[in-house]
Amino acid sequence: MGSNQPAQIRLPPPQQKGTLSLEEAIARRRSKRDFTPEPISLSQLSQILWAAQGISDTLSEFRTAPSAGATYPLEVFVVCGGNGIEGVADGVYHYNVAHHSLSLHHKGDVRLELARATLDQRFVYQAPVDIVICALYERTTPRYGGRGERYVHMEVGHAGQNIYLQAVALGLATVAVGAFHDEEVREVLRLDKQYKPLYIMPVGNLLG
Ligand SMILES: Cc1cc2nc3c(=O)[nH]c(=O)nc-3n(C[C@H](O)[C@H](O)[C@H](O)COP(=O)(O)O)c2cc1C
Repeated sequence: MGSNQPAQIRLPPPQQKGTLSLEEAIARRRSKRDFTPEPISLSQLSQILWAAQGISDTLSEFRTAPSAGATYPLEVFVVCGGNGIEGVADGVYHYNVAHHSLSLHHKGDVRLELARATLDQRFVYQAPVDIVICALYERTTPRYGGRGERYVHMEVGHAGQNIYLQAVALGLATVAVGAFHDEEVREVLRLDKQYKPLYIMPVGNLLG
């Protein structure tokens, strides 16, 4: 770990069979806001990212969440702090959908700054990992005009629900956070202006 860490991190292949039924996952889903500092494993992260935006059909490259016209406007970032992912250095990572891998965007634990940008929602700092889903609207609006913005917002809901259900199935906790200052989040993650953050989802083990 640390300075020898490769810029690209291959994620373990996602599992497509689990022990919890879909009905149980739906029934148990709840927003949870108390996290232990215990790290999550790379396999757990792999599963969460796959559920959010992973490829589920290698021929068409269609993904786990539906997308208006398969325009795929969402980009997923992973904020890891306090050695929150086993074997992965703290930093901000981008999820490469096509390769199911992570690429280092920049090093360091930015959870405190991220929590400040969410009106001080402390669990954003306490969770070992925050998944940040951003949109690039211009992937969808050329085809659908103004209505494309609505489609992007619907799509992030699909991805968010998949994260919720996958977290339940893994025995992890999460909550969808929509209250934050967009520009501050963008600056903390050092993203270009066209990236619009839509959801922050802290993920970790439940306290208590
Ligand atoms: C669009 C959206 C934004 C939300 N933003 C926040 C938030 O900023 N902070 C938070 O603690 N919960 C947030 N939540 C979670 C809701 O508070 C939660 O879903 C609601 O209380 C119902 O609880 P449940 O998810 O356990 O069913 C958000 C949920 C949605 C759908």
